[in-house]
Amino acid sequence: MKNFGKCLVSLVAAGSAVAAYATEKGVIINHLGVNNTLVRVTGEGKYLVMPVQESIDDAAVNILVDGKLERTIYVRLAKSKVDYTVPLDLTPYKGHDVVLNVVTSQSRSNIREAVNDACWSNFCVTNTFSTDNREKFRPAYHHTPLYGWMNDPNGMVYKDGEWHLYYQWNPYGSKWQNMTWGHSSSKDLLSWNHHPAAIEPNGLGAVFSGSCAIDKENTAGFGSDAIVALYTSAATSQVQSMAWSTDNGETFNIYPGNPVITLDSEARDPNMFRNPYTGKWSLMLAHALEHEMLVYSSDDLKNWTLESAFGKGLGAQGGVWECPDLFELEVEGTGEKKWMLICNLNPGGPFGGSAAQYFIGDFNGKTFIPDTDAEGKVPTKWMDFGKDHYATVSWSDAPENRRTVIGWMSNWQYAAEVPTTQFRSANTLPRDISLFRASDGQIYVKTAPAPEVSNLRDKLLRKTSATTGKNPKRFALPEANSGICEINVDIDAKKSKSVTLELSNRLGENVIMTYDPAGDTLSFDRRNSGIVDFSQDFPAVTVAPAMSGSNRISLRIFIDRSSIEVFDNNGRFVMTNLVFPNEPYSTLSVSSDGKAQLTSLQIHSLKATTL
Ligand code: FRU
Repeated sequence: MKNFGKCLVSLVAAGSAVAAYATEKGVIINHLGVNNTLVRVTGEGKYLVMPVQESIDDAAVNILVDGKLERTIYVRLAKSKVDYTVPLDLTPYKGHDVVLNVVTSQSRSNIREAVNDACWSNFCVTNTFSTDNREKFRPAYHHTPLYGWMNDPNGMVYKDGEWHLYYQWNPYGSKWQNMTWGHSSSKDLLSWNHHPAAIEPNGLGAVFSGSCAIDKENTAGFGSDAIVALYTSAATSQVQSMAWSTDNGETFNIYPGNPVITLDSEARDPNMFRNPYTGKWSLMLAHALEHEMLVYSSDDLKNWTLESAFGKGLGAQGGVWECPDLFELEVEGTGEKKWMLICNLNPGGPFGGSAAQYFIGDFNGKTFIPDTDAEGKVPTKWMDFGKDHYATVSWSDAPENRRTVIGWMSNWQYAAEVPTTQFRSANTLPRDISLFRASDGQIYVKTAPAPEVSNLRDKLLRKTSATTGKNPKRFALPEANSGICEINVDIDAKKSKSVTLELSNRLGENVIMTYDPAGDTLSFDRRNSGIVDFSQDFPAVTVAPAMSGSNRISLRIFIDRSSIEVFDNNGRFVMTNLVFPNEPYSTLSVSSDGKAQLTSLQIHSLKATTL
C-alpha cells in the first residue's frame, strides 16, 4: 500500500505560457496566472493525493464541484520538493466534475516559475492512501491521527461500550490549519479505530475545541440519547456552536440556529455537563484573553445564561486560558466530595509554554469557589510536571464513576517543529484521576494510568533488586518495536544524596532522571536526549515535587518511541516529556550518590497497538 510520489507527467500543451497539460495520474493542470492554477480531476479513484512541502506557505485550494464552490481548504502545496502527501477524499463527489482552483501566495515574477512547482507533477488520483505506521517517532501504543496535524482532544464521550475521542485535526497537512474534529473510538482505550472527520469547517468558520454530552432526557429535542456537541466556531469572531449526532457520534448535524453563545471578546472551548444538583446543564467557557472561565447554565443546551466568571488574578496567568473542564470527585478515603476545575494555560506553564493547571473548590451550579491555603491564598496546582501535557480534559459519561482524562502530548512552543513528517502529535496515555489530601492540608489530584494500560504488557524481561552506588548498575531495555517498554522501579534512597536513572543509547544520547530525597523531587533532563535542536525551547529539565514524605519513591515509566511518561505509583505526580532519540534507548543505568536500594525493578516489553 505504498503510493508516494511517482506521478509521471506528460505535457500535452506546453507551447504557450498558460500551459494546460494532463498527467498520467488523472489530472489536467492549467496555469491561469502567476498565482493561480486549475487542477482538473479526470481520473477515477477514491483520493486525489496532494503533495505538501512543510516550509511553504499555504495555498488556498478552492474545491469546485460541477463548477460551484464546495469549500476552501488550505494546503502547503509543494514548490521545490515533496515532503509528504495528503489525500482529498473524492468519494462524496463521485459522478461530478471536480476542479481545484488553487491560489498560491508565493511571490513570482512570471508564470513559468509557477509551472515548475513540484506539486503539479505530483498530484495523483489513486484508490489507496497508505496510513501504515512507518515513521520512526510515531508512537506504537499512544493515540495519534493516521496522518496530519492534531492538537487538543475534544468532545470525549463514552457511549455503549465505546470511548469516543474527537480531536483538533488538520487532515491536509502536519501543521495547524483547517481545524476539523477528527474522530477515533476504542473499546479498551488502547487500540483506536479511526473514523471519517466528524465536524468539518462550515459557514461559521473553523471548528475549534469543545465537548460532547449524551442528552439522555432529550432536553434539546434531538432525540433521547443524542450526542450533543458544543464547539467554538472560529473565523473573524469566536462564537459557540452546537451540533448533534443520532448515530453514536459518527456523523453530526450542524444546528441551524448557531451560534448559541456570542461574546464580544475571544471565548472558546465550551465544556458542558449535566449538573445533577441543579437539574440543568452547566457549561464552562474559556474567556481566553481575560484569563478567566465563564460559567453558564441552560435547560435545553440552546439557550444559555451567564452565571459568573472565575479566575481573574488567580493561579497562573502567564498566558491565555483555554480548554476548561469541571467535575466532582471524591477525596480518597474520606467520602468528602470536591469540584476540580481544569484551566489549561498557554504560555505560562512551569517549564515554559503550555500546561494544565487546576483548582479545587465548590460549585453550586452558578459559581465556583476555590479552596484556599493556610494563608488564605488560592494555590496554583499543576496536573503534570513535564513539558508535554496540554489541553487535558475528561470523558463524559465514563462508566463506573470513572474520571478518565487524556491530554495533548505536546507544547505550543514547538509542536509544529517536532521531527515527525506525515503526522504531528499524539495524546498522553489515558489516565484515571481522583483526589487526595496531602500533608500540607491541601487537596491535590491523584493520577494513575487507566487500568486498561496494564494490558499492554507483553513479556516480563527483567525482575530484580540491587544495591546501588557510584558505579552504575546496567539493565538492558527491550529491542522489540523500537524499544517500547514499561519500567517499574521502587527506590529506597536510604542515606544517599541522590539516585539517578539514566536511559541511554549507543550514540551517547540519554535522559537523566534524578531523585533528590532531601528536596523530595524528581527531575527529568532531556537536554541530551537525541534530536533537540529544532527549537530552543525543547532542551529542558523538568522537576516534579515527589511528595513522598520519605526517602522512597516508586515509579512507573512508559517509553513509546518519542515520549516518556513517568507516573508516581502513589499517584502524587506525573511527568510527560517528548524525546526524539536517534536510536531507541537500549540501557537503563542506575547509580546513587551514596548507597541506595533498588528494592524492586521490573521491565516489561509492551505490545504495539497502532501498527
Ligand atoms: C488550545 C487551543 C484552543 C482552541 C484550539 C484551536 O490548544 O488554542 O483554545 O480551541 O486550540 O485548535
